[in-house]
Amino acid sequence: MDATQQRWDAVDDWIERHLVPEDTFLTGALAASADAGLPAIQVSPAQGRMLELLVRMTNARFVLEVGTLGGYSTIWLARGLPTDGRVVTLELDLRHAEVARGNLAAAGLSDKVEVRVGAASALLGDLQGQFDLVFIDADKASTPEYFSHALRLSHLGTIIVVDNVVRGGAVVDDPGDDVDVAGIRRFVELVGLEPRVRSTAIQTVGRKGYDGFAVLLVGE
Ligand code: SAH
Ligand code: DHB
Ligand code: MG
Repeated sequence: MDATQQRWDAVDDWIERHLVPEDTFLTGALAASADAGLPAIQVSPAQGRMLELLVRMTNARFVLEVGTLGGYSTIWLARGLPTDGRVVTLELDLRHAEVARGNLAAAGLSDKVEVRVGAASALLGDLQGQFDLVFIDADKASTPEYFSHALRLSHLGTIIVVDNVVRGGAVVDDPGDDVDVAGIRRFVELVGLEPRVRSTAIQTVGRKGYDGFAVLLVGE
């Protein structure tokens, strides 16, 4: 690992030590996910905490997540909810979904979270109603499609958060045959042309390298 990444990790360690409380359910979820051989591509603790804060700051009650993995980000999202709040989270891989269900059960969140298994495009097509916050974090190539579903499932004031919109800066290069980078580029172009959202994207460095997230507010 290079010196720059070590520095970013050290600062994330420091942020976590002071601002992100230790939590056995979250560390347990990471351990169970690693034991099951899931890729360690979940949000960082500091990013997870930010998701919890966004849920709290917006008084969100209904949260939609696209891309569950082992349910690490799902636990953070669910933690921000009031008693009657709910998360619906969508996952293609049954094995990932089963690990997530186990982690959510261990965290006492089974009643708050519904893990639906299948291709997100199909599952989103079946969803109705309005969500207060949507977190998009699945296959990057399909982000434009997930964004259009998120808009359909929104109301004025809904927050849409999209992970991995910078990808080490690759988003400003010719994507070539990289469908993920092409998907993110298309997504940002569509957002810029969409009058129903007010948006930004923030570049980040840290435990997950150099990447970034977009935040969109659905309004007039
Ligand atoms: N949000 C998680 C990380 C998600 S990783 C966290 O931060 O903890 C991306 C997930 O999206 C993987 O589990 C992958 O299996 C899933 N995925 C990939 N393609 C998908 C698709 N077409 N539909 C639904 N989920 C998909
Ligand atoms: C990958 C996916 C993610 O959602 C992420 O945050 C980091 C990496 C990936 O597919 O490599
Ligand atoms: Mg991600």
